Amino acid sequence: MTQQLSRQADRQKVEPAHARNGPISYGHRGARGHAPENTLLAFDLAFDLGADGIECDVQLSADGRIVVIHDSTVNRTTNGRGPVNGMSFEALRALDAGRLMRLPQRIPTLEETLALVWRRGGLLNLELKADTDTEAVTVAEAVAPVLNALPEDNPLRAGLLLSSFSFPAVARMRELAPWARTATLYGGRAWTGSAMIESALHLGVEAIHPHPRILTEGTIRAAHEAGLKVNVWTANRLATIRRLIAWNADGVFTDYPERMVIARRLVGVMA
Ligand code: G3P
Ligand code: MG
Repeated sequence: MTQQLSRQADRQKVEPAHARNGPISYGHRGARGHAPENTLLAFDLAFDLGADGIECDVQLSADGRIVVIHDSTVNRTTNGRGPVNGMSFEALRALDAGRLMRLPQRIPTLEETLALVWRRGGLLNLELKADTDTEAVTVAEAVAPVLNALPEDNPLRAGLLLSSFSFPAVARMRELAPWARTATLYGGRAWTGSAMIESALHLGVEAIHPHPRILTEGTIRAAHEAGLKVNVWTANRLATIRRLIAWNADGVFTDYPERMVIARRLVGVMA
């Protein structure tokens, strides 16, 4: 009990995002605008800058371990070369994932990321990443048992949101962890508002995650009428963020979490 109390005391006291006005703010790949993306440094910094949660991308190493990295190769973000799913966990962990900003960092594990989000008392959007639907389903199958092992009263469960461009991966996650909240991602210009809403209702997810270029205020209204939330990626311009707040978006992913704080304050004055 004492141990539990002291562990609870380690959690930052934050007002639940849903109890406050305005969209939930997710640091996209952490505070990607300021720190190496998808690293523990970027995640902590996102919370420091006022994010309610973080978004990160998960995929599998050659030996089936879950790692947090965006691209299918390590070439852009680390000092190594090669496909993520062709390298062992040990080899991936030996790389410097902070190369882009000269801030030495390791590729995080899912467990490290969960621990950080728990410690910060925040929300987590895990994006299941892979080049093919088959691989994305495999990622879902690896992630689900880790999440299912979280104690039922662990606040991480309520704060988790799983998403993917791969709808089969989302469907598989819904089968394997039906308690977990899920969302579908949309980026291509061919997506209409009604097609996004229809696909989300078909899969039974909580939210659609469209890119701003394919989003209108009418789509947000229609999604809400259909009982869906709308979380938008990735909004970095202050004007875009202010517009999304005015449109009543439920969540915004940004590389610059402090801009959400600014935009919320400015929109409040405008109201
Ligand atoms: O999950 C939102 C966003 O991260 C999707 O695009 O390429 O940045 O993973 P990407
Ligand atoms: Mg992502």
